[in-house]
Amino acid sequence: MESKEKNKGYTSESEGGIWFSFSRRNILTLAGWGLFFATIGAYLSQILGYKGFFYPKVLFEPSPRFAVGEPKAYLENSVTTLKARKIFIVRDGNSFKALSVVCQHLGCAVEFSKEKNIFECPCHGSKYYRNGVNFAGPAPRPLDHFEVVLDDSGKLVVDTSKVVPLETELVV
Ligand code: FES
Repeated sequence: MESKEKNKGYTSESEGGIWFSFSRRNILTLAGWGLFFATIGAYLSQILGYKGFFYPKVLFEPSPRFAVGEPKAYLENSVTTLKARKIFIVRDGNSFKALSVVCQHLGCAVEFSKEKNIFECPCHGSKYYRNGVNFAGPAPRPLDHFEVVLDDSGKLVVDTSKVVPLETELVV
């Protein structure tokens, strides 16, 4: 009886407290339940996506339609790389085109060579004329051309969700 009292927890039954005995079995049982609930909690948080469960699953991507400045911002007969937008703005006289930097072979970013006046892909050597038409390497087709329009404020607006035929250009 005395040894049983020794193993009792912090408050006695007679005091109306919580009955608990620090026996090895009880401690292992508690540890087992703790582990069980921790595992269930971890799985649930994974499945429900934590707080994401309470919010709609929406991808916040930048709009494919964006302004790239006024025409005068581009030098005549120039190719300007807008890396963040993954496009080239090609200006010839007063004609503007927006070409994709994505190589049509396996998707590397092509670069414009001022010296050669062509686009070159550093990955497998595809080459494109200044108008985006492929002429060497494994690329099977020309670079994508995107729609370019002039908005009400006089700025060029590119829409990368609209691929247009190669000969399409905006003349301002
Ligand atoms: S990805 Fe451009 S040539 Fe292969």
